[in-house]
Amino acid sequence: MTIHIGAKPGEIAETVLMPGDPLRARWAAETFLEDPELVNDIRGMFGYTGHWKKQRVTIQGSGMGMPSLSIYANELIRDYGAKTLIRIGSCGAMQAQVKLRDVVLAMTASSVNTPSSALFRELNFAPCADWPLLRAALQAADGKGIFPHVGGIYSSDTFYDERPDLIQQMTRHGVLAVEMEAAELYAVAARHGARALAVLTVSDHLLTGEALDSDARERSFADMIEIALEAAFS
Ligand code: HPA
Repeated sequence: MTIHIGAKPGEIAETVLMPGDPLRARWAAETFLEDPELVNDIRGMFGYTGHWKKQRVTIQGSGMGMPSLSIYANELIRDYGAKTLIRIGSCGAMQAQVKLRDVVLAMTASSVNTPSSALFRELNFAPCADWPLLRAALQAADGKGIFPHVGGIYSSDTFYDERPDLIQQMTRHGVLAVEMEAAELYAVAARHGARALAVLTVSDHLLTGEALDSDARERSFADMIEIALEAAFS
């Protein structure tokens, strides 16, 4: 047991899917895993371990934002030996060709700041997805007739953004979408020799103001989980 995760030693799988929302973790575990067992409920940040096609998987909520995700990613890797961590979450599109419900695979994640920035000091570290995992996710999506956007995203510290000029510069430089966790997940995984990827679906559009309703969010979430599971075990 760690400060934030109540699982006993051995109760966390080497492969962990991390949605931001703990209720999504519960829904995903009950929908996709055989014999899911609740292994964490500290602070209501649910984690479940079960099996998918005979492979052991944990689905652990990360909370919103990089400081929260950083706590769970550190403890999962350092204390429980997690080796593959896949964020599954939503993002806001920043390019016209990226549409609502589209899947985005985050090759890199820009940021203004992350919990790891203090460590890097003057260095602009470029957080990067694990390539074999990214390639496997692309193949898994392809098998479902889903064609993801693959490229750079922006991991923001704010949902309510006060810097439209910064968003414009990123759009101009081809950044596909914004979310709030991937850059720190990639940095923590890199630091400890784990594999990481963020598989995202577009829930809202920064250029058009459109947004998915909750039913559509759920359906797109299911595709994303299947892509993440297939990628993890391919
Ligand atoms: N901003 C930040 N994070 C997000 C967004 C957004 O517009 N949409 C989904 N996650």
